[in-house]
Amino acid sequence: MTMKLLQRIALFSLVIALALPPLAVAQGGIDTYKAKCQACHGAGGIPSEGMAKSMGLKPLGGPSVQSISDADLTAAITNGKGKMKAFKGTLTDAQIKDLVSYIRTLKK
Ligand code: HEC
Repeated sequence: MTMKLLQRIALFSLVIALALPPLAVAQGGIDTYKAKCQACHGAGGIPSEGMAKSMGLKPLGGPSVQSISDADLTAAITNGKGKMKAFKGTLTDAQIKDLVSYIRTLKK
């Protein structure tokens, strides 16, 4: 009986430990997003009407962006796209990876 309880606690702790890192990653992504991306792409990836019109921005959570592969999203952020500058040199590969993870959380 006691052993079963201990096993349960151990399993529970393991589940928590496994669940936490992705949360931490999403957290890192949102901070960078707010600092470097939100001015154009808007809160939660939804650009203001003016920004959407002048820059041709699509909601990051919408189908046209979510259908882009992780590799291509990474490339767009790293090398720039349209009126967006390249973030290579400004952001680390790890930060860009976190941003791609964050963009995936915006999926509608
Ligand atoms: C100066 C405004 C501006 C900033 C700042 C900016 N972007 Fe962009 N972003 C754009 C524009 C413009 C496009 C190109 C839209 C197009 O031509 O399809 C774009 C495209 C993208 C794309 C490709 C998807 C698409 O709609 O084509 C991703 C992903 C993206 N941006 C993420 C980011 C991230 C992450 C950051 C912060 C590190 C960021 N952007 C900062 C303006 C900006």
